[in-house]
Amino acid sequence: MIKGVIFDLDGVIVTTDDCHYLAWKHMADEEGIDFNRQINERLRGVSRMDSLAIILERSTKPYSLAEKEAMAARKNNDYITLIHKLTPADILPGTLETLRILREKGIKIAIGSSSRNTPVILKQIGLADAFDAVADGNQITRSKPDPEVFLLAASLLALDPADCLVVEDADAGVEAACAGGMVALGVGAAAANPLAMHHAHTLAEVDWEAILC
Ligand code: BG6
Ligand code: MG
Repeated sequence: MIKGVIFDLDGVIVTTDDCHYLAWKHMADEEGIDFNRQINERLRGVSRMDSLAIILERSTKPYSLAEKEAMAARKNNDYITLIHKLTPADILPGTLETLRILREKGIKIAIGSSSRNTPVILKQIGLADAFDAVADGNQITRSKPDPEVFLLAASLLALDPADCLVVEDADAGVEAACAGGMVALGVGAAAANPLAMHHAHTLAEVDWEAILC
């Protein structure tokens, strides 16, 4: 029986895809590295440094760790400027209604995100106090598809992972949920993921009565 729902943030609660893309694109252009929206799709759910490693697959130049950290920092500075423009209008369809339904049913709710910018984003969209627990990239050492962030979220909710459902838009996140012994609801880019038990294009389409029964 589902007692808790753990939401990924980027691409599930709020749309930050363009902010990530534009910030990485700026960095890649400055370095003369080929980068496009198709490659950007592979960064979904993946940590900042793992994302940089994927981008650098297209580069022949050997970068030192210090140089890589500086590149990731440059990207993040641009990204932070962009996410400071987010407002509650950027909350994805069906999110607020979903949170209301789950609260009404006594289901605990948490965030499980790879992003180290989670606190800023939640504040910008006015949901800083909306969750019972927040597990994010600042508290973990292993990025999705490792289940660490979801296991942390379940433990912060004081729930058994088997009693939690994860909502994810990234294939890496669906894999992470399954690896952690949780069922997944794939939305957006993960709406057709075969590892997910439930599927929907957006949260607005989800039949919570059917999932929670
Ligand atoms: C995830 C995004 O939520 O957070 C990834 O889907 C991103 O694309 C990752 O790389 C890390 O984000 P941040 O904000 O810590 O750079
Ligand atoms: Mg996501």
